[in-house]
Amino acid sequence: MHYGGDYNPEQWPEEIWPEDVARMREAGVTMVSLGIFSWSRIQPAEGQFDFDWLDRVIDLLHEGGIAVDLATATASPPPWVHERYPEVLPVTADGVTLGPGSRQHYAPSSPVYRRLASELVTAIAHRYAQHPGVVMWHINNEYGCHLHADYSDTARDAFRAWLEKRYGDVETLNDAWGTAFWSQRYTSFSQVLPPRAAPYSHNPGQLLDFHRFTSDMLLECYLMEKEIIRAAGATQPVTTNFMGPFKPANYAQWAPHLDVITDDCYPDPNDPESFRDAAFQRDLMRSLKPDVPWMLMEQATNALNWRPSNAPKAPGQMEALSIQCVGRGADGILFFQWRQSRAGAEKFHSAMLPHAGTDTRTWREVTRLGATLAALGSLPVGTDARVALVMDWENWWAIESPDHPSNRLDHLAVLQRWYRALHRRHVAVDIVTPEQVDERHSLVIAPTLYLLRPEGADALVAHVRRGGHLLTGPFTDVVDERDRFLDGGFLTRLGPVLGVGIEDFGALAVAGGGPGEAVAPLTGPFGEAIGTVLAEEVILRGADAVATFSEGRRAGGPALTRFSGEGGTGWYLATVPDEAGCDAIAGHVLEAAGVRAVIDGAPDTVDVSRRGNVVTVVNFGSEPASVPLAGTDLATGEQVEHVDLEPYGYALVAQ
Ligand code: GAL
Repeated sequence: MHYGGDYNPEQWPEEIWPEDVARMREAGVTMVSLGIFSWSRIQPAEGQFDFDWLDRVIDLLHEGGIAVDLATATASPPPWVHERYPEVLPVTADGVTLGPGSRQHYAPSSPVYRRLASELVTAIAHRYAQHPGVVMWHINNEYGCHLHADYSDTARDAFRAWLEKRYGDVETLNDAWGTAFWSQRYTSFSQVLPPRAAPYSHNPGQLLDFHRFTSDMLLECYLMEKEIIRAAGATQPVTTNFMGPFKPANYAQWAPHLDVITDDCYPDPNDPESFRDAAFQRDLMRSLKPDVPWMLMEQATNALNWRPSNAPKAPGQMEALSIQCVGRGADGILFFQWRQSRAGAEKFHSAMLPHAGTDTRTWREVTRLGATLAALGSLPVGTDARVALVMDWENWWAIESPDHPSNRLDHLAVLQRWYRALHRRHVAVDIVTPEQVDERHSLVIAPTLYLLRPEGADALVAHVRRGGHLLTGPFTDVVDERDRFLDGGFLTRLGPVLGVGIEDFGALAVAGGGPGEAVAPLTGPFGEAIGTVLAEEVILRGADAVATFSEGRRAGGPALTRFSGEGGTGWYLATVPDEAGCDAIAGHVLEAAGVRAVIDGAPDTVDVSRRGNVVTVVNFGSEPASVPLAGTDLATGEQVEHVDLEPYGYALVAQ
């Protein structure tokens, strides 16, 4: 179990470093991420490297027993880079060049950036590959965090090359994008541009491919650095820090290239429900590489600097969120950052060692958590989730393309709403792509799966045919991987196992008051729910209507259907239910699928998770909670029948 944070010693006089190490030991720190923004310090000019200071810091840390997660420092190029090579700067869709003076001001596809980055990484990797203090490599930092896409001429050229590789010839590209429309037919790849500012809607195939390209360019940068590290003979695990459900980078595609998944997560401490979306993020990280414990690479000890208002964390809240990570599969808790900065844009951001020093609540909480984690020992791996929630980046990109029946569909918000319904019921969930659904899952929930690849469709159909439950819809199985309709209408692949077809997507109005309804109430055995965004016109083709719309244009029409004609059970939902509706419908379907909670009887504000035989409970409610949970309390070694938890209290119990 690692514990620590980003360490930025170049912000401090060298005399402070020994004190840092001593304080780290006091706090129970075992690992620091070093050098993330040190490019300008390591390489003050092209061809000139200064490693003496870094040698001294790494040695000092090593002597102090603090392991190093060594960064490649490529996330923020120094001023000499753009002075000499202004072409590395990225450009927005509107043609604005993003200048230096902040960070992440580089075009990921720029050959110059890549050359300079590779020279830097080569030097660092050769110098430290064999250093016993270096236990992990931290490539770059939060790829794409600020720069969601680059539209520069560099990107233009790289996009053309990427398309040529993907499609081979321009006619195949024309076919994929449907360029017979609006006179868009290309006769050469040299005519294709990134989707820069244009008078009206872009071609959806172009938009989708530009998302793929953008994720691939970042991944290429990562892979380039990883190869350099390996070529230098380094054998330590390699990672880059993810940002939870981050739209611009297809983490499901990236995950096989990371030896350890690491994540940065900053739930809003002022939102009493943010722990549920945090749980979603933890489960996503666990699911990306289920057999290897992930690590929380960054969180805040207390307040942030980048929200409109940065509320402090409540006493105990940071520790509770940390234990939530451990329960959901993390074997490391790190922070941004070790020592609070004196200057710079993040000087108000909390840190492990606050500006106000060690006589602070933050420091006391930090040292207490260090001691707690050190006492934990190793925990088993594996969650045994029987529910799969389908999350697919290509679908996310395509479904949020403009010009749809409703352009108000927030795919991540829909996924998180379903997740929260499962979370309140303490059900373990894997968050996977359709292709990753397997025999361990008895219930698959695939909300708004608009883009469905053939392999994904096959996996979902196979799941139902081997007896599983599938809950899907609305706006699902609409297009292929090129964002094109398939022959035969909608639900062309999943329809047979759902026993329904779709005639119309039935977009709901933005607000009431006109002839179009803004919401679509529905009634079923689970009670009542409010449908939002869409109220689809479902045709029953063997399925039964479990719930029907109760008012409005679709009154009496099927709202939730169930079909058992193909081995398992296909459920189709014709609308996006509100929070309470999602909750009720999830309860109904979980019961039908025979899925149980990790444990019964915990209040819904208690976070419940399992790692092998260890159940973790964390109370995020504002009231004390008593949870029936029998086993050995890992903190005390005592046998318990139930645990009593104060607000932000927690327990890990081995069963
Ligand atoms: C992350 C970043 C860190 C720091 C932190 C502040 O996005 O990786 O360097 O800026 O946010 O919350």
